[in-house]
Amino acid sequence: MDKEIQNNVIEVSTISKAFGGLRALENCSLNIQAGSITGLIGPNGSGKTTLFNAITGYERIDSGDIRFQGKSIAQSKPEQIFKLGIGRTFQLTRIFPKLTVLENMHVAVQRQGKGNMFSSWSAAHERRKALELLDFVGITKHKDLLAGNLSYGQRKLLEFAFILIADPKIILLDEPAGGVNPTMILYLADRIRELHQQGLTFLIVEHNMEFVMNLCQQVAVMHQGNIIAQGTGAEVRSNPAVLDAYLGGGLE
Ligand SMILES: Nc1ncnc2c1ncn2[C@@H]1O[C@H](COP(=O)(O)OP(=O)(O)O)[C@@H](O)[C@H]1O
Ligand SMILES: [Mg+2]
Repeated sequence: MDKEIQNNVIEVSTISKAFGGLRALENCSLNIQAGSITGLIGPNGSGKTTLFNAITGYERIDSGDIRFQGKSIAQSKPEQIFKLGIGRTFQLTRIFPKLTVLENMHVAVQRQGKGNMFSSWSAAHERRKALELLDFVGITKHKDLLAGNLSYGQRKLLEFAFILIADPKIILLDEPAGGVNPTMILYLADRIRELHQQGLTFLIVEHNMEFVMNLCQQVAVMHQGNIIAQGTGAEVRSNPAVLDAYLGGGLE
């Protein structure tokens, strides 16, 4: 088999998705190399979140195929895809505000299907893992706080810990730095680098160009439901089609 194909953890092949007459994705293709950190940029409304939703099973595609480690996941449900090893965050975080930070992690364990609904914290090691992950993202001291009382950036860190409990192979982050203070953005970038060194693959939608250019070896650019360019940050920056898509603004 083609070596390049084998190295792709995710292969999106000519997928389309319309909402009524609006074509959010049109013959969109994207390969994600195992072990890479790929940035996904593009103007608002270009289809980035829809592509995330398609990969993670939250939107059913109209045509095309999506493969994870060589197997089609185009018909799979979000929970199945999550359990296969594709973790994601949402543009607007989806934590449970009325549960404490640690209780949120408990939900993550149950979602993974390893916890037991009828015994709280069935396995001590799962609690330990939850605490380790809260420590990893730097919010251990808030473990007993209601998640709704966390700052916006802290909620994003909790959501990050939430998906890590399932030991994902690839993580899709939708605007992780949006609305987050600069110190926390640097902290988040370091955590991503650390996980990347451990072998995780990342696909990151982000408008913060400094964040993308510092972190991502590969950058893919979306425009009107399609990937119009892919390459290093420097390559896509000087690509005329990309500059056109942004109409000369926004990319810096
Ligand atoms: N559930 C939906 N129903 C109708 N239109 C949608 C829906 N989700 C996204 N869209 C439209 O699809 C296009 C792509 O949106 P989106 O993927 O959110 O873009 P991005 O994340 O790049 O800003 C936009 O025009 C958006 O309004
Ligand atoms: Mg979006």
